[in-house]
Amino acid sequence: PPGGPGDPAGQALPVESRPFASYGSALHIALPQAPRAGQLLTLLIDYEAGEGPGVCWLSPEQTAGKQKPYMYTQGQAVLNRSFFPCFDTPSVKFTYSATVKVPEGFTAVMSATSWEKQKDNTFVFKMSQPIPSYLIALVVGDIVSADVGPRSRVWAEPCLIEAAKKEYDGVIEEFLVVGEKLFGPYVWGRYDILFMPPSFPFGGMENPCLTFVTPCLLAGDRSLVDVIIHEISHSWFGNLVTNATWGEFWLNEGFTMYAQRRISTEVYGLPYTCLEAATGRALLRQHMDATGEDHPLNKLRVVIEPGLWGVNPDDTYNETPYEKGYCFVSYLAHLVGNQSKFDAFLQAYVNRFKFQSITADDTLGFFLEYFPELKEKGVDSVPGFEFDRWLNTPGWPPYLPDLSPGQQLMRPADELAELWAADSLNMEAIEAVDITGWRTYQLVYFLDQVLQKSPLPEGNVKRLSKMYPKISKAQNAELRLRWCQIVLKNNLEAEYSKVKDFLHSQGKQKYTLPLYRAMWGGSEATRALAMETFSATAPQLHVNVQNYVKKILGLGGAE
Ligand code: BES
Ligand code: ZN
Repeated sequence: PPGGPGDPAGQALPVESRPFASYGSALHIALPQAPRAGQLLTLLIDYEAGEGPGVCWLSPEQTAGKQKPYMYTQGQAVLNRSFFPCFDTPSVKFTYSATVKVPEGFTAVMSATSWEKQKDNTFVFKMSQPIPSYLIALVVGDIVSADVGPRSRVWAEPCLIEAAKKEYDGVIEEFLVVGEKLFGPYVWGRYDILFMPPSFPFGGMENPCLTFVTPCLLAGDRSLVDVIIHEISHSWFGNLVTNATWGEFWLNEGFTMYAQRRISTEVYGLPYTCLEAATGRALLRQHMDATGEDHPLNKLRVVIEPGLWGVNPDDTYNETPYEKGYCFVSYLAHLVGNQSKFDAFLQAYVNRFKFQSITADDTLGFFLEYFPELKEKGVDSVPGFEFDRWLNTPGWPPYLPDLSPGQQLMRPADELAELWAADSLNMEAIEAVDITGWRTYQLVYFLDQVLQKSPLPEGNVKRLSKMYPKISKAQNAELRLRWCQIVLKNNLEAEYSKVKDFLHSQGKQKYTLPLYRAMWGGSEATRALAMETFSATAPQLHVNVQNYVKKILGLGGAE
C-alpha cells in the first residue's frame, strides 16, 4: 500500500509455502495484479521465527557466565531464511532497519551502521549500506562493551570483557588503516568485535560493523589475531564485493585469504605471513587427503541446485575455497609480477564492483580488461593453468605461491619434527633445540609436521608430551586441536581425556569435525570416546555441526 504498514488501503494476500530444497521452503505470495517494472511494492509479512537453524537459543549453562540465556543468529550461508522472510541469496542486496525489544537486563546488538537505545529496553538499528541477507545478524544477551580503538570496541559477557579488551586493545585500528591503504575506504563506519559463547561454530563471522568471533581467540597473547585480520578483510571482499551464488564462495574467501595475508605482510612481515600461509596449505593437504582430490567440492566453482540431489550451500565450507582460492588469486598476482600493480588492481576491482554481487566471470573479465597486455598474451589459457581449469577441475592447485621467505621460521620446526620421528630418539639433538621462544604458529607448523609423520615409533609421542608441557598442556585452541589430533593418531590413551575436554570446552566446526573423523577412523576405544563425547555435548553444538557429526558417526543427520 502507498501509505506503508497499517494503511487501510492495504490488502490481505493469499500466501502459500511450497517445497524448495532440504534446507528451506519457498514463501509464495499471490499478487492481485502483475507488478510493473519500477513500481514500488510494499509487503507487510507477519511471522514468528521458530526452531529454525538461523536463530540459536542458548540456556544459561551454555554461556560463559552461566547466569542468563542468550540468543544469536548465524545467517551464512542460507540460514537467515529461518530468521526472517527474505530473498535468501547473496545476489540480492538491501538496506534494513530493525526495532528490537528485549527483557530487562539484556542488550541487543546487530550488524548495523547505527543503533540507538530507546525507552522500554527497545533498540533501534539501521544498516544504511546495501548488504545481502546472510549478513544480517542479531545477538541478545547479558553483554557489555569496552573501547579498543577510535572506531572499535569489543563486546562480551561481563565475565569476559576484561580479557577481551586486553586481547585487542590498540591493535585493531592498524589493521583497518592498512586495509584502507591497500583496498580503499572502509565504508562501514565502526568495526566492533563480539565474543560469542563457546558453542559458536566459527572462528569468526564477518557481520558488517560487528564481527562475531569464538571466545577461543582469547589466548592472552594476541596469537590468533589472524582471524580478526581475516574478518576485517571481508569488509572489502565479501561484504562490498559479494559472490553472487554460493557456488562461487571462493570469490569471498579466496580473495579474503589473499587480502588477510597482504595486511599481515604489511604489519608482521613476510616471513611470519608465509609461516601462517604454510599452516593453511597443510590444512588444504589434510582436507584433500580426507575427501579425495577428485571430490566435486574440491573445485573452486561448485554446482548448487535446489532439490534432493543438489549440493547444500553449507557444504561448501571447507578448505578448498579458502586455500585453493588463495592460490588462484596468488597466481593472478604472479601473472602480473609486481605487487604494487596487483594491489592497485585489487583496489580498482573493489571500486568497480562495490555493493554488487558478481561471478568469477566478472572477476576474471575485469582482470583481463585491467591488464590488456596479459589478455593479449592469452594468460587465461596457458596449458595446465587455464582459468577454466582453476575453476572447474577438482584437485590440488596447479600453482602454489612461494612460501620460502618463511623458511627461517619453518626450518627449525621441520628439523625438530624430523628428530621426533626417528626410530631411536637423538635426545641430545632434541634437547639442543629451545622452543620456549617459538611463536604459536611455529608450534602449530611443527605439530602439523608431527601429525603428518604420525603414528610415530612407539613411545615417542609420550616423551614429546613430557618434554613440552607448553604444547601438551596448552590452553591455546589451535595448539589443543593439533595436540588432540596427534594423541588420536598415535593412540595415546593416557591423554584421550584431553580430546574430550577440548570438545566439551567449545563447539567450533573446524575443530569439532576433524576430531570426530579421527576418533571414528581410529580404534574401538576412540569410537567409544566419540559416542560418549557426542552424547554429552550434542545439545550444546550448533544444529548444523550436530548434523555433520551425526553423519560422521553414522547416526543419520546431514545428507
Ligand atoms: N565467513 C566465514 C565463516 C563462514 C563460512 C560461516 C561459511 C558460514 C558459512 C568467515 O569469514 C571465516 O572464514 N572464518 C574462518 C576464519 C579463518 C579462515 C581465519 C573460521 O571460522 O575459521
Ligand atoms: Zn572468511
